[in-house]
Amino acid sequence: MSSPQVTPFHHAGSGTWSYIVRDPASNAAAIVDPVLDFDMASAHTSTASALGLLDHVQAHGLDVQWILETHAHADHLSAGDWLRGQLPRARLAIGDGIRTVQKTFRPIFNLGAHFPVDGSQFDRLFAADDRFAIGALEGRTIPVPGHTSDSSAYLIGDALFTGDSLFMPDGGTARCDFPGGDAATLYRSIQRLFELPDATRVFVCHDYGPGGRAVACETTIGAQKRDNIHVGHGIDAATFVALREARDATLPMPALLLPSVQTNIRAGALPDPESNGVRYLKLPIGTL
Ligand SMILES: [Fe+2]
Repeated sequence: MSSPQVTPFHHAGSGTWSYIVRDPASNAAAIVDPVLDFDMASAHTSTASALGLLDHVQAHGLDVQWILETHAHADHLSAGDWLRGQLPRARLAIGDGIRTVQKTFRPIFNLGAHFPVDGSQFDRLFAADDRFAIGALEGRTIPVPGHTSDSSAYLIGDALFTGDSLFMPDGGTARCDFPGGDAATLYRSIQRLFELPDATRVFVCHDYGPGGRAVACETTIGAQKRDNIHVGHGIDAATFVALREARDATLPMPALLLPSVQTNIRAGALPDPESNGVRYLKLPIGTL
């Protein structure tokens, strides 16, 4: 099996890992889960982190063919829309479950009938098992709903990009209490990932360095099956669901949930400017 070159980029503010995935036989590449910096207090965005990705692309002469979102993130804004403007050959893709997320959040943000809920803000919607090419590498889409209803993992050669379905083994799994999330669904999704070969390299979307260890991004399916504190050791579905739901009940809402979701259901584009030329994000009071 082909083995892509994977370069990780850590976003300290949100604990997000973004990746540049390169076909070793060519300069073809993909970007996974790029972050748009956002300061909530001042409502300023910045492309500093995305420029770090772009610098790497230019320094290595990469031909970015895809920008892949694992899901509509609730903790950070996506730089997908900005990056596709910088990389005209790149197509911005996400799992086709994004339509469900858009249908869930359109009424919450009162976006009106003119806000499309067909995923047309993206260039490509991946269904289960959809294949795509990055040069000579083959990518395959594995839906992993549970954290969100649109979550997709991408298997590219021997490298699996899990989104938030699996964290590092000592980090467990992501919460399942956002609208559209479901712990039992996440358990089933993870069991599908556990059917992959143990040697499959696993690249996670977040790491917060539990216990004070240095942040990390890469593990394997074998290590996850053996050691993951939420789903390893052959833990059964009922035990996982009880653990996950008990933990979710203790978690505060992510600081950037509201700006993130309303931006990311637009593929990372901010709302259109109003008559004064200013873009506004909404805070729906008392709805989440
Ligand atoms: Fe997430």
